[in-house]
Amino acid sequence: MPKALMPGPDIESDAGLLDLITTKDPQREEALFAEARRRRAEHYGSGVYFRGLIEFSNYCRNDCYYCGIRRGNARAERYRLDTDAILNCCRMGDLLGYKTFVLQSGEDPWFTDERMVEILGAIRREFPDHAITLSIGEKSRESYERFFRAGANRYLLRHETADEAHYRALHPASMSLAERKQCLFNLKEIGYQVGAGFMVGTPFQTPENLLEDLRFLRELRPHMVGIGPFIPQKDTPFGGYPPGSLELTLRMVALTRLILPGALIPATTALGTISPRGRERGLMAGANVVMPNLSPKAVRKLYSLYDNKICTGDEAAECRLCMEGRIRDFGFEPDMARGDAIDGNEQSPCLC
Ligand code: 5AD
Ligand code: FES
Repeated sequence: MPKALMPGPDIESDAGLLDLITTKDPQREEALFAEARRRRAEHYGSGVYFRGLIEFSNYCRNDCYYCGIRRGNARAERYRLDTDAILNCCRMGDLLGYKTFVLQSGEDPWFTDERMVEILGAIRREFPDHAITLSIGEKSRESYERFFRAGANRYLLRHETADEAHYRALHPASMSLAERKQCLFNLKEIGYQVGAGFMVGTPFQTPENLLEDLRFLRELRPHMVGIGPFIPQKDTPFGGYPPGSLELTLRMVALTRLILPGALIPATTALGTISPRGRERGLMAGANVVMPNLSPKAVRKLYSLYDNKICTGDEAAECRLCMEGRIRDFGFEPDMARGDAIDGNEQSPCLC
């Protein structure tokens, strides 16, 4: 069939989506990636936004079975950055041209709402025009409101899996998918630009679970979606399971781009960890954001969600330069603008 008459990937039906999730046909896969690149270019051209990631505490009250900084991991060496250290990361990031700071941590009770508001206030005073993204887990609606008023603009909270039974298989009984989803809807209502997301290849995951993730994205319509392969961490209950597949992760990135064409989708560090050009391939599958690390070099290795994490030995400036080079090699343009979410998701067809 001439190329112009070839039907595009069928993302309208569950059967079509499942077919694309599971395809082993390299030609169909490449057509999917090409369509995702086309949609991405429609909204974002060839630009790739940079976000500076500050991992400010690896203490966590939760015990997710997959995560290296889970409470039950007695071998994790714990650290916290104080307000000054966090501000210094922001200053370094600002000098390097970053316009977004992403503050990520485990669910660390030491960082009470009051302390978070103080930190947010300090960053806001010094950087009134930067975007501040929080990624600090599940909180009450009131807490989210306080952080928003204190200057946070965006919030990342991956749902991890949108299937109830699968969620229970990945988390202890104290955590629930319903709670997670409620947090995401609360964040959206408050006015945050919201990031959901999931891991690919976690133990017990089925293609139907991944379909459920896409259906949930259609329902929530987040501004950002983080997708990365599961990677085992040796001191966790899932330490003996195999990592997620690169190709399947890339197909999920591409399908997410087709479902939410205006979304901000990072080419994740986990993708770069399972394959030397994983992040670049993420961009080629429709991603348009990278999140180089701004954390102090001394603590980088300790924020060890999974084994063999890349970029733990580099200075912030090296990380930025390295990412710039990699991006250009694949025909993309680094974009240091704030890069707020655009309202491009309304064109997505509805499944209901
Ligand atoms: N492999 C890959 N990603 C992981 N995360 C946590 N543990 C792992 C792992 N073992 C991801 C989760 C979390 C994000 C911060 O890191 O999706 O939301
Ligand atoms: Fe920290 Fe899951 S182990 S949120």
